[in-house]
Amino acid sequence: MLPLRSRGLALCTRRVPSGATSVCLQPRLPCLSSPRQPSTTRNHSTSVSADELSHFSGLASSWWDPMGPSRILHLMNPLRHEFIASCLADSPPPTSDTQAATAANLNYLDIGCGGGIFAESLARTIPVEPSTIAPTPTRAASMTAIDPSTDLIQIARDHARKDPTVDAHLRSGRFRYLNTTLEDVLASNGTPAGSDTPKSTAQFDMVTLFEVIEHIEPTTTTPQAFLANCLRALKPGGWLIGSTISRTFPSWILNQVIAEAPWPIGVVPRGTHEWSKFVNPPELHAWAQEGLMRAADSGVTRGGPGVLDGMRWKCVGAIYVPGLGWKLAPGSEDWGNYFWAVKKGV
Ligand SMILES: C[S@@+](CC[C@H](N)C(=O)[O-])C[C@H]1O[C@@H](n2cnc3c(N)ncnc32)[C@H](O)[C@@H]1O
Repeated sequence: MLPLRSRGLALCTRRVPSGATSVCLQPRLPCLSSPRQPSTTRNHSTSVSADELSHFSGLASSWWDPMGPSRILHLMNPLRHEFIASCLADSPPPTSDTQAATAANLNYLDIGCGGGIFAESLARTIPVEPSTIAPTPTRAASMTAIDPSTDLIQIARDHARKDPTVDAHLRSGRFRYLNTTLEDVLASNGTPAGSDTPKSTAQFDMVTLFEVIEHIEPTTTTPQAFLANCLRALKPGGWLIGSTISRTFPSWILNQVIAEAPWPIGVVPRGTHEWSKFVNPPELHAWAQEGLMRAADSGVTRGGPGVLDGMRWKCVGAIYVPGLGWKLAPGSEDWGNYFWAVKKGV
C-alpha cells in the first residue's frame, strides 16, 4: 500500500566540506565544533535514515527550483514566518531592558534545514547592523542551520552566497550552515545526546523543525527521543517550532495518493513520505511533555511534571488554497499538514 523508497544509492561518500568543521566565529553565538575529521564516508548518528538521506540528497540540484520537487516547501515558507511571529507574540512582554534586548536578539537553530529554504529566509531577517535591536517579526540575531546531507548543505551555502546581505551574514558568522546532526550538536557541547550528565546543552532561543520529524529513522531511535534532544538544545523560555503531517485516512489520501501521484497531479516526488511515520497531534503533544521532562534530567535529579509548569503548546492545521497558498486552518489538524510549537518553561 505504501510507496517504497528507492534504495541502493551510496550513503554520503562525498568529501566533507571544510565548512563542516565549524568554529565559533562570533563570541556571542553558541559555539559548535564538529568532532569529526573530514573523511570520505560520514558515520551519521542513529536518528538519520540512510534511505531518507539518499532520497533528499538526490533532490539537491533542484531544491531551489520553485516549480521543482521542493515546490511544496517553497509555498509553505511564508506561513512558517507567520506561525513563528504568532508564537513570539504569545510570549509575555519583557519587564526589563535586559529582557527586552534578549527577547529581540534570538539565536535560532534550524534542524534538518535541507537546501535552506527556511534558513535563508530567516537569515534575511537578521539585521545587518549587529547592534540594532532586531525589528523583524522573527526577532532573529543569528541562525545556525544543520542537515546531515552534505549535498544539501553545499546547495544551501551556494545559494546563500548569491544574496549580498545573506552572504554578509555568512561571513560574519551570524548565519551558519553545518553539515552535521542534532546529536553531534549536543555532543559538541560536551553532553552526548540522551545522556544524563548535568551539563547544559541549551544553546538556542528558538529551534525549528519543519517537515523533519516524519523522516527520523525509527529502527534505531524514536521520534520521542529525537524531540527530547531538540528540547535539550533549547534555552528556558524558548520555542521549539515545527510542522509535520497527521497519520490519518484523509492525510493518506492527500499526502500519499494525491501528492505523490505521477505528474501533473502529484506535487512531491514519489517516496518522499511514509504514512506510518506521520505523527498525530496528541502523540506529539505527549512526546513534547515527556521530552521537556527528559531534557530536564540531570545526573542526580530527574525532571518531574513541575518542568511542565511554564510549558505552552500550540497546534494549528494548515491547508493549501489554490491561488492563495498555504493558510492556517484551526481544526484541520487531522486532515494532514499542521504547525505545532512547544514553549519551554523558564
Ligand atoms: C522534507 S526535508 C525539509 C527541509 C527543510 N526543513 C524545509 O522544510 O525546507 C527533510 C530534511 O530533513 C533532513 N533529515 C532527515 N533525517 C534527519 C535527522 N535525523 N536529523 C536532521 N535532519 C534530518 C533531510 O536531510 C532533509 O533535508
